[in-house]
Amino acid sequence: METAEIRRRWLSFFESKGHLIVPSAPLIHQDPNLLFVNAGMVPFKPYFLGQETPPGPRATSVQKCVRTQDIEEVGKTSRHGTFFQMNGNFSFGDYFKEGAIRYAWELVTTSVDAGGFGLDGERLWATVYEDDDEAIELWLAHTGVPMERIVRRGKADNYWHMGVPGPGGPCSEIYYDRGPAYGPEGGPAVDEDRFLEFWNLVFMQYDLSAVRSKEDFDIAGELPQQNIDTGMGLERIASILQGVDNLYEIDEVFPVLQHAASMTGKTYGAQSGPSAGESHPDDVRLRVVADHVRSSLMLIGDGVTPGNEGRGYVLRRMLRRAVRSMRLLGYDEPCLPELLPISMGRMKASYPELETGFGRIAQIAYAEEEAFRRTLAAGTTILDLAVDRTKESGSSVLAGDQAFALHDTYGFPIDLTLEMAAEHGLEVDREGFTRLMSEQRQRAKADARAKKSAHGDTTAYRGVAEALGREVEFFGYQEVSGEGRVAGLLVDGSAAATATEGQEVEVVLDRTPFYAEGGGQLADGGLLRLAGGALVEVDDVQKPIGGLIVHRGRILTGEVGTGEQVFAEVDIARRRSISRAHTATHMVHKAIREALGDTATQAGSENSPGRFRFDFNASSAVPVSVLRDVEARVNQVLLDDLAVRAEVMTQAQAREAGAMALFGEKYGDAVRVISVGDWARELCGGTHAEHTSQLGLVTLLGESSIGAGVRRVEALVGTDAYSFLARERAIVGQLTELMKGRPEELPERVHGLLGKLKDAERELDKLRREALMAAGANLIAGVRDLGGVSFLGHDLGAGASADDVRTTVLDVRTRLGDERAAVVAVTGSANGRPVIVVATNASA
Ligand code: ALA
Repeated sequence: METAEIRRRWLSFFESKGHLIVPSAPLIHQDPNLLFVNAGMVPFKPYFLGQETPPGPRATSVQKCVRTQDIEEVGKTSRHGTFFQMNGNFSFGDYFKEGAIRYAWELVTTSVDAGGFGLDGERLWATVYEDDDEAIELWLAHTGVPMERIVRRGKADNYWHMGVPGPGGPCSEIYYDRGPAYGPEGGPAVDEDRFLEFWNLVFMQYDLSAVRSKEDFDIAGELPQQNIDTGMGLERIASILQGVDNLYEIDEVFPVLQHAASMTGKTYGAQSGPSAGESHPDDVRLRVVADHVRSSLMLIGDGVTPGNEGRGYVLRRMLRRAVRSMRLLGYDEPCLPELLPISMGRMKASYPELETGFGRIAQIAYAEEEAFRRTLAAGTTILDLAVDRTKESGSSVLAGDQAFALHDTYGFPIDLTLEMAAEHGLEVDREGFTRLMSEQRQRAKADARAKKSAHGDTTAYRGVAEALGREVEFFGYQEVSGEGRVAGLLVDGSAAATATEGQEVEVVLDRTPFYAEGGGQLADGGLLRLAGGALVEVDDVQKPIGGLIVHRGRILTGEVGTGEQVFAEVDIARRRSISRAHTATHMVHKAIREALGDTATQAGSENSPGRFRFDFNASSAVPVSVLRDVEARVNQVLLDDLAVRAEVMTQAQAREAGAMALFGEKYGDAVRVISVGDWARELCGGTHAEHTSQLGLVTLLGESSIGAGVRRVEALVGTDAYSFLARERAIVGQLTELMKGRPEELPERVHGLLGKLKDAERELDKLRREALMAAGANLIAGVRDLGGVSFLGHDLGAGASADDVRTTVLDVRTRLGDERAAVVAVTGSANGRPVIVVATNASA
């Protein structure tokens, strides 16, 4: 059964049981604790926690997931893949253990003809959490699994949580016995290759606070209701139903593996591994290629671009590992143009947007491969030398400073150095490397104190959010000042009841007009006037967790207490200036796409007062003439005085209206669309000018590369643009005065001047040479006889360059001829560096 068909059956089975079908959320999720969505339940988390009302009591989905903590294991075992899909059925306070177990049994054992998966009930095993007698009873009462095939297991196996604070609970897993060919008898506790876990039923009923490890966590309390969260690995059930050994061999993945094998002339599975039960290294590499190519495709599809940290780094690492694995298999040409389209071809049945967006995806992936090929070419020789030197010195550990130099100078990430050193049988001094890295980081980031708490401890914020019991109301689209109440106060990251003059504080209001940094727009600044007379100067506003807006700043005067009334005032000049920049960004985005085509999509932006930068996907530099056209177009539209409107609509309406950037939103979300007249339309949560004419003027400062396939333009808006141009005009004024001409004659005059300078230098050079020659003739007089050898020693003194010294030596030697042995030594010094040239002739 094809994977796409399994997916279809899953969704229609649960739809027939009253579940709402919810499309997969993108891999990037707003939860600051997660790099990627790593389980089917992630988009539903607020429903489990009771923070939001679900669209219905039951839902089902097939969710895209990425887990990369086991990236080293990919290909070595049958169970680890970085990208996978999780079939899930969810109950929000509706059915519980009995319903989950009964549905599971029905779906897997119903015959294929009747729409199920047709697994033989005799081969199924169930595990339960150690003291969950209730689950055991239910398995016995409602399914054909006998007591001998039900196993109790502890927290490590049968308690599920997200690995970070959030909902969790005991679980019950279903295993399929693949038969004696795969391992010994004895059930899941004995062999997890033979007994393959493919479905996890989580009885979600607790709210976990601190999560230190799989088995070590604190339970903060019960969830408002008992829920069900299940996850069936789509790739695992596919491998079972397709009768293949592992997830690399299923229909969505194997064609890439096969093609990689034929490109490298390998036969997959032809040779056995170094020891029993292990795969041959070539097979492992082929699986890595197949897995990583697919994961990269899906990540780029969801808007990730390669980079040096966070998500971008995970993607970069996977693309590079795929490319390197192909090299190790003997393929030196660019491989992604061969492999990526095959992967897309297999995945498009479930994700049609991969086909429509393939131009952009391929451009990013291929550019990264090219960049990596250059990195490898530059660094490999250096690494080989370092390896040789290490071996010669009798050590088996590559020094930390060598690894650091490779990183710093040649862009070799440490993982690559580790892998390549290991291929030569060497370890790497990681500690030394890490120390040098952190020293460097500290130097560079002395000012990056507490940057935005993106991955920090969010416990205190959660406390405030819970106490408030709802999202902070943001009314800053309509007003720039208004009343609110202090809902929470933090000093040094911990909750406080009061704070006084001079202290740095974080203030949460129940409602605020302050825009928190987000969507590429910097935060508002301004003042909080407390009812009790205190004043807080706000210099940063962040959203450390969803739904919470935190004002950061200093108490200028008085004392602030929770519960107090506040009048919040945004700094209007700053806000307007940022808004103008943000509208200008949309206009530049649109104009760039008009000029370069639709693949020039946004890759990032930052809107600050009076200026912005805009990053977009493009494989090569944008010519200056195109930039000038873009600038002209934007300024033209700006004079058309188009109205800028914000509208909230459904995703379908937004797509219909032609809005750009329709990824990154959750299903069911209403989206906010910003339109600049009918000309540019995109999803955006930021603030904007009301009319394009308010921008005044937009000027592009230039364009540069900020990574493989990503370009950046920087620009000024309004008075900042004017001041910049005024400054340039002043410079031109000074130059015209100096050059005594009209401004338009400047280039020609400067050109002429440079030409004259060059001629003068040439002339000077010629005179010097002549002078040296003349001096050479005089020097002959100073030749001495040193035991039958003609010898001349002479110092040309300071100011004589290496060239001068060499010319003189050769001149004197020529004059002396070859009859007698001769030695000529001349010295000089230029720029404080001594030069000595000694020459002998053929008879010496
Ligand atoms: N959330 C559960 C898991 O990921 C179903 O295994």
